[in-house]
Amino acid sequence: MTTLSASRRSPEQLKLKIEQRKARIGIIGLGYVGLPLALLFSDQKFSVTGFDIDDRKVETLTKGGSYIYRIRSEEIQTAKAQGFSATSDYARLVEMDAVIICVPTPLNQYHEPDLSFITDTTHAIAPHLQPGQLVVLESTTYPGTTEEVMVPILEKENKNSLKVARGLSAGEKEFYVAFSPEREDPGNTSVARRDIPKVVGGVNPNASELAGALYGSIFTRTVPVSSPATAEMTKLLENIYRCVNIALVNELKLLCLRMGIDIWEVIAAASTKPFGFHPFYPGPGLGGHCIPVDPFYLSWKAKEWDFRTRFIELAGEININMPYHVLASIGGALNQHKKSVNGAKILILGVAYKKDIDDLRESPALTIIELLQKEGAEVKYNDPYFPFIGKGRKYDLQMKGSDLENLGQYDCVVIVTDHSDYDYRKIVREARLVVDTRNATKSIQDAKIVRC
Ligand SMILES: NC(=O)c1ccc[n+]([C@@H]2O[C@H](COP(=O)([O-])OP(=O)(O)OC[C@H]3O[C@@H](n4cnc5c(N)ncnc54)[C@H](O)[C@@H]3O)[C@@H](O)[C@H]2O)c1
Repeated sequence: MTTLSASRRSPEQLKLKIEQRKARIGIIGLGYVGLPLALLFSDQKFSVTGFDIDDRKVETLTKGGSYIYRIRSEEIQTAKAQGFSATSDYARLVEMDAVIICVPTPLNQYHEPDLSFITDTTHAIAPHLQPGQLVVLESTTYPGTTEEVMVPILEKENKNSLKVARGLSAGEKEFYVAFSPEREDPGNTSVARRDIPKVVGGVNPNASELAGALYGSIFTRTVPVSSPATAEMTKLLENIYRCVNIALVNELKLLCLRMGIDIWEVIAAASTKPFGFHPFYPGPGLGGHCIPVDPFYLSWKAKEWDFRTRFIELAGEININMPYHVLASIGGALNQHKKSVNGAKILILGVAYKKDIDDLRESPALTIIELLQKEGAEVKYNDPYFPFIGKGRKYDLQMKGSDLENLGQYDCVVIVTDHSDYDYRKIVREARLVVDTRNATKSIQDAKIVRC
């Protein structure tokens, strides 16, 4: 294995290497964000090396396989033919011209930012840092992470006394640092990934220009901003906007249910306004790695400035309560049939956090299953993307998926995730009682449907 350090000197030379597709790209964290990004660079004829501490992922990729549903093995094999390889050996970072970090940023048990993946990665990069290298963080995080957390570690722990390039300097003993948030919307096929504009904020103008050139080679448009903190905050604004608006429609849904008004019909009508309204939809609760998590990164950081982010807290309160609302609705629906949750046979349809994706993280379905089990229900589930639910960060369900045969055996079928593959007419026909949290049965009129 070669361990030659990449020949790099000035920012101009690195920019030229990028333009000529000769720059070597290292991507750290080959998950839902990092692996597709590696494939985008590979598609544009860059030589890409992926780094991950998960040996199973490295092994799968090395064998030309994929572990992400929407990425076919053939795409990995094409990338491999283009020079893509995966490794857990950080020493190979010395070969890279640019290093992009896509590691997780979860919350800890106290609902505070867990930056350990970012700090672990930064500690691991630092000893291999080379002059002129570009390091970009993509993980969603609070404003200040890149400059206050990453840069000091890189400066202190590198072996060449390198300093981050600041101001207009372009010295030989410098490296470049930027932040560029990932903006992907999993399962959304309406926009090609390369057409999602890429926001980039460098520590200094050279870092911004280099990161802009790097992403400009795979994205149709880059959006330069004045600093990493601005780029970090941009990503949080986008996710908080979503979180708060979802909370708003979730709250209005609860009111509409009491008033006997169909919130979905209201949203559809409001959406005809050609300006000033963007539709958001209610659901059984927030899920995914981003919307339920990221806003709290900002709430936490805001405390350092004696500031309370009240919108975020209120939205969190409303959204966290939604699975409990689903539980109450199931109880109410069973009650109409003179049954209780305790002892009821219940099938949960869809456990992914949103339709047509293979991602379980923070899914409200998991909370709903746990709440139902606690109340004494006998719970089964079906999800075409998950034949089995094992152990996650917050749950340990160890459940095997059930098929969709004989739906009449269940006291209640609950639609939690509205996957497109489901035949909702058939489901309603065969089930005894259907609780629909997603309006998946909107075109079906049947007394056994309870919309909640
Ligand atoms: N998934 C999304 O849709 C999405 C969208 C926008 C932003 N983001 C953000 O992107 C970041 C990554 O998210 P993801 O969904 O790709 O996470 P993920 O869990 O799917 O992947 C992260 C990968 O990083 C690896 N890893 C962890 N620590 C490592 C280390 N020290 N060295 C090397 N590899 C390491 C893990 O093994 C894993 O393969 C997060 O900050 C997330 O908030 C995700």
